[in-house]
Amino acid sequence: MIIQKIQNFWQTYISKKLDTFNLIEVSRSAILHNYDYFQMIQPNCQIWPVLKSNAYGHGLIQVAQILKQRKFAYIVVDSYYEALKVWQITSQPVLLIGQSPSSNYKNFDFSRLAVVVYRLETIQTLGNLGKHIRIHLKINTGLNRQGIKVGEVKNFLKELKKYPKLELEGVCSHLASSDDESKNTTTFNQKELFLRAIKIIKENGFTPKYFHLSNTGGTLRLEDNNTFNAVRLGLGLYGISPFPPQDTKASILEGLKPALTFWSQIIHTIELEKGDEVSYGGTFVADKKMTIGLLPVGYYEVFTRKMSNKGYVSFEGKYLPLIGNICMNLSLCNIDGQNIRTGDKIQIISPEPFAKNSVYEIAKLNQTIPYEILVKIAEPIRRVVVD
Ligand SMILES: Cc1ncc(COP(=O)(O)O)c(C=O)c1O
Repeated sequence: MIIQKIQNFWQTYISKKLDTFNLIEVSRSAILHNYDYFQMIQPNCQIWPVLKSNAYGHGLIQVAQILKQRKFAYIVVDSYYEALKVWQITSQPVLLIGQSPSSNYKNFDFSRLAVVVYRLETIQTLGNLGKHIRIHLKINTGLNRQGIKVGEVKNFLKELKKYPKLELEGVCSHLASSDDESKNTTTFNQKELFLRAIKIIKENGFTPKYFHLSNTGGTLRLEDNNTFNAVRLGLGLYGISPFPPQDTKASILEGLKPALTFWSQIIHTIELEKGDEVSYGGTFVADKKMTIGLLPVGYYEVFTRKMSNKGYVSFEGKYLPLIGNICMNLSLCNIDGQNIRTGDKIQIISPEPFAKNSVYEIAKLNQTIPYEILVKIAEPIRRVVVD
């Protein structure tokens, strides 16, 4: 009964019967363009879109819906929860790259799921289910996070042979520093180790169908060598470069179309007298009579406390400094002297790479990377697909 009530509420919310102040626009044409751009760069690879972490903040359901217009073997996610979300909108098979509690595997729908494995225990758990399960073996080529070392491959294959219903469909690895040109040797060495692992697997009589190593950075850097036939594309799918825009080759930056715009609006205006303090801690003090605007965006939605008195939002191309401390669900911006009223639309995140409120600049201000900013965008904020 309670669950039904929650679902009814959710339906009302999702079906847009309730208005929201904050809105994230996700550009269909940008996502498809980026997909095609990477396909052009790697014509011999399937592009497997990575939709984990709410599709890098873009909305998993929305991006899965857009991608129905392209054909590929797998959508890549981290957890079974995300796989279930994908299947709300499409029956597209899913590759699960994250580890799951062993006790959960018995409940998985393996008819449209492949799982990345790198622990003998996982092989045993999956094998003992007695079902046909597609697995992708992860090789540790230097990231030292997940994966088996090349020297352990033979032993792993020996265990795998005990479970004929487990199909070794893929072999994969993950690059440690593909976004760092000064570490090209590391990336190259990882590729060589991966090729060695593949050779061992083939020599032991296995014939996997897919070999995938690259993420966005690798896809842009590593030449196709006719062995790899899939890439797991995350950040690039959303039109964001793994390198700062100043350091990204012009041709790449032109090829990428950022897909996300975060809109909010002024929900209230406040007149300050000289000497008035603003927000928690009074870290901004008005030096004259001035007008400020209230935004329903705080550190829950996407901002951080670090952006207090430092970040920017924009109104029709004009930048408005954030003033005072960022609150949990609110922040304030300086609209003094601007013709801005309650209800006016404010851009919180701009798709323009060089804007002061681009995801790159927000990340820089926070001494982090665009990935972290994007995935921080709160899930309940409504995402709409445009163009
Ligand atoms: C295993 C794996 N593959 C691919 C990706 C996608 O990486 P990127 O967003 O750099 O394309 C990730 C991202 O975290 C990952 O963990």
